[in-house]
Amino acid sequence: MSHENALVGVKVVIDAGPTYEDIDPVRFLGNRSSGKMGFAIAEACVAEGADVTLIAGPVALATPGGVACRVDVRSALQMRDAVMKVIDNADIFIATAAVADWRVAEYSSRKIKKNASGAPVLELVENPDILAEVAARDPRPFVVGFAAETDHVAEHAREKLERKKLDMLAANHVDENIGIGADDNALELIWPGGSETLPRASKSQLAKTLVARIAARYHARKAT
Ligand code: CTP
Repeated sequence: MSHENALVGVKVVIDAGPTYEDIDPVRFLGNRSSGKMGFAIAEACVAEGADVTLIAGPVALATPGGVACRVDVRSALQMRDAVMKVIDNADIFIATAAVADWRVAEYSSRKIKKNASGAPVLELVENPDILAEVAARDPRPFVVGFAAETDHVAEHAREKLERKKLDMLAANHVDENIGIGADDNALELIWPGGSETLPRASKSQLAKTLVARIAARYHARKAT
C-alpha cells in the first residue's frame, strides 16, 4: 500500500487535549496537555486519506486542514458524549486526550468564598473511562490508547493494553522536557504480540510514523 493512501475511505475518530472540570464559575481542575500530539495525529491521518473527526478539549490549536469535523468540548462528560455520538461509524478510535480522572461531585453555581471555617474540601467522583468504554463495544473500531508514564514504561503499557483490551497502545515517557505539553515526544508502541520503540522526534514526525503503524495493523486485523 502506498504511503499517503493507507487510510483512504477509513473513518477515524480522535480525542485530544485536556478536559477541564469546573468547580465554580471561576475555577476548574485541569492538566498540562496541549493537544499537540492529537492534532498532529489528526493531520497525519488526513495525509493518509482518512475521514477524520476530531474531538478537542480546551486547546489553543487551529484545526488541521482537511479534518472533516471538529467538536469542541470542555469536560470529560462532554467529551464522552461527543465520542459516543460518532463512534458507531468509526473504523479507528485514537484516544490521545488527557481526560481528567475525576470531577467535583457538586458544581457550585456561585463562586466559593473564603470564610472563617477554612479551606473547602472538594469531594471528587470518577469520570467515565472513554477509551475502555469504546473498547468494550461490540462491534468496535480498531482502538488505540495512549499512556503517560514516568517509569517502567513498557511494563505499565503492556498491563494497560491488556486491562483495557486495546488493539494498540502508545506510551509516552514523561518528564519535564518530553511528553505532555512539549514539542518533542518519544513513544513505546505496544500491541498484542509485539512492540516497537519510536525514538524522540518532533510530534509531527512521530505522528506520521505512528499513523503508518496504526494503518498497517488496522489492515492486518481486517484481513484476518
Ligand atoms: N482515558 C479515557 N478516559 C478516561 C481516562 C483515560 O479515555 N477517563 C484514556 C486516555 O485518552 C488515554 C488512556 O486512557 O488513551 C490513558 O490511560 P490512563 O489514564 O493512563 O490510564 P489509567 O488506567 O487511568 O492509568 P493510571 O494507572 O496511570 O492512572
